[in-house]
Amino acid sequence: MSSTIRWQRSDDVVTLVLDDPGQSANTMNAAFQQSLAAVADRLEAEKDGIRGIIVTSAKKTFFAGGDLRELIAVTPEHAQQVFDAGLRIKRDLRRIETLGVPVVAALNGAALGGGYEIALACHHRVALDAPGSKIGLPEVTLGLLPGSGGVVRTVRLLGITDALLKVLLQGTQYSPRRALEAGLVHEVADTEEEMLAKARAFIDDHPDARQPWDTEGYRIPGGTPADPAFAAALPAFPATLSKQTGGAPYPAPRNILAAAVEGAQVDFETAQVIETRYFTELVTGRTSKNMIQAFFFDLQAVNAGRSRPQGTEPRPVRRAAVLGAGMMGAGIAYACARAGIEVVLKDVTLENARHGKAYSEGLLDKAVAKGRTTQAERDAVLARITPTADVAELAGCDAVIEAVFEDPALKHKVFQEVQHVVAPDALLCSNTSTLPITLLAEGVERPVDFIGLHFFSPVDKMPLVEIIKGERTGDEALARAFDLVRQIRKTPVVVNDSRGFFTSRVIGRFINEGVAMVGEGVPAASVEQAAAQAGYPAKVLSLMDELTLTLPRKIREETRKAAEESGGGWTPHPADAVIDRMVEEFDRPGRSGGAGFYDYVDGKRAGLWPGLAEHFGREGTDVPFEDLKERMLFSEALDSVRCLEEGVLTSVADANIGSVLGIGFPGWTGGVLQYINGYEGGLPGFVARARELQAAYGERFAPPALLLEKAEKGETFTD
Ligand code: NAI
Repeated sequence: MSSTIRWQRSDDVVTLVLDDPGQSANTMNAAFQQSLAAVADRLEAEKDGIRGIIVTSAKKTFFAGGDLRELIAVTPEHAQQVFDAGLRIKRDLRRIETLGVPVVAALNGAALGGGYEIALACHHRVALDAPGSKIGLPEVTLGLLPGSGGVVRTVRLLGITDALLKVLLQGTQYSPRRALEAGLVHEVADTEEEMLAKARAFIDDHPDARQPWDTEGYRIPGGTPADPAFAAALPAFPATLSKQTGGAPYPAPRNILAAAVEGAQVDFETAQVIETRYFTELVTGRTSKNMIQAFFFDLQAVNAGRSRPQGTEPRPVRRAAVLGAGMMGAGIAYACARAGIEVVLKDVTLENARHGKAYSEGLLDKAVAKGRTTQAERDAVLARITPTADVAELAGCDAVIEAVFEDPALKHKVFQEVQHVVAPDALLCSNTSTLPITLLAEGVERPVDFIGLHFFSPVDKMPLVEIIKGERTGDEALARAFDLVRQIRKTPVVVNDSRGFFTSRVIGRFINEGVAMVGEGVPAASVEQAAAQAGYPAKVLSLMDELTLTLPRKIREETRKAAEESGGGWTPHPADAVIDRMVEEFDRPGRSGGAGFYDYVDGKRAGLWPGLAEHFGREGTDVPFEDLKERMLFSEALDSVRCLEEGVLTSVADANIGSVLGIGFPGWTGGVLQYINGYEGGLPGFVARARELQAAYGERFAPPALLLEKAEKGETFTD
């Protein structure tokens, strides 16, 4: 096997160049592990003639971390092997760390996960300030913990509290400069030469370098649970944890906390064993597989363009017309301008348009204050946004993104106004959240260039855009829309036109399910608690209030009409009656109306409305808590299978990514369809449970034919 670590020696300094042959990035695969052991052997044998070691990489990134293809494949039967391999890597890094020779990490690019763990085993860390370069331990975001000494060393470097809060529990990724401020690296360099010169200077100046934790009298900064003051603060940690996970089944934060706290009370070597034990438990468990599948493989497939038609050359958008400078238009203008696109932001009055632009100003000023962007960048982004009320200003725009009120006649009108002013082949996009794209396309002369671009609010934070292909949308328009979403650095999922598309339709099931529970007499607090414990970022009744109860009524009316016109059937949902009573009988239409499932004081939520118990509560209602949680998850998962069956969805990856990044389907599941794959007992287990729910709560839980077929054939949902 060829070596993945090159050995270069000059002037008695050995440079270890991480360079996995044939791979675009270095990972902790088997070849690396062997090379690391061989390098440690050689260093030990030759150490007398060596006065320093520099670790760097020949790739664009320093080191990418664990090999996720290997990690996702390990099963509980591999636990002992994983444990042994983990300890071996740790032992080899430790051999280099304690050789008695100064070791410097020269981080030429991103050092995340295993990459930063290698750097932590070095006595000194110099990072090149390369654009986009990131440093940190994001394992928690994949349901894992840093298993190559990352917990043990960050606790000893920063203290338990900072290690947990700044690095381990959130998986924060720092730019080199911010990593310097947070104490994760010692120096930052502007050029590769400067980085290497700094590394050599450290070696020259510190022939006896050693880690703080290997020096006499070392104590963990900030104390350990053995110190009374620290012990008194310990009970706050589980509270922080439950705030982070909402009580949902995320095992990684719990294991990280345990590894950090237990590891701080023992010697370094024992702490390494503890860390390895907790790592092994996570990597052989279900949640990390779900999360690796979704947040690595599916996300990569989606962003790489698996749903983008081939054959259209990318043609970056230079000048975009954003129509409507309200909440969404203002956010879309910001996202485009940040990505370097000239934006003409049009509203009915110049004042409205200026107000929309001011939204960007607010966001940018905040970013400057927090050091996330520079004053020059702020000014440049703002200079790209031209507010206007004049259609003529839209001349030359090569893309239009419409975000006016949700009214088909108005949308038709604004496209009529602009279609001859913008470039003759401009891409025409609507940000409608509910109106059929095929219907809106009837209002333009070039329906082949018309497409849905469904952003989520707030646009600057939400990473997803749902692209909706109408019946007459051409492949070229789809490819261009896809490229535009990538250009503004968001993740595009592609769906076919249907009422509510994929995301709005499926989140509607979740909301309806929660509301239906209220109608059954379940205490509203239990409904909210079930949503939180299932892992939803927003509680279901509070979400209903945000969207307003009038919205589902409007959608229901339109759906019913459309069904009648097409001669199709339409089944009412048990939530309908609850919503109708809330609006008609109690005048509680949601947050914007000042009252909903919650009471509001000065626009702020002030507790669940006590009237719910009085008007909807029932003696003897006893729905098992597990059923509350699973009804929410199942209602969305089952409807997603129907979306796949109906061709609304065309890929599993789009379903998983769209559900987690767009509508808050719990991340631990890996997405709506991965949830089914990972359910206890696999697809047959999921079908059996769906049938139980069907018998107890109604036909909406009936397993669709596609699910039954896959379960029977022993298949899973994969692309
Ligand atoms: P909004 O009410 O905040 O803004 C609409 C803006 O359009 C207003 O500033 C209005 O003055 C302007 N407008 C009206 N007629 C116009 C015309 N003829 N020319 C130019 N501008 C005109 O509405 P919001 O929330 O920004 O929604 C806009 C669209 O985005 C709607 O279709 C909505 O369904 C959709 N959407 C909304 C989401 C949300 O969370 N609010 C999420 C995704 C999509």
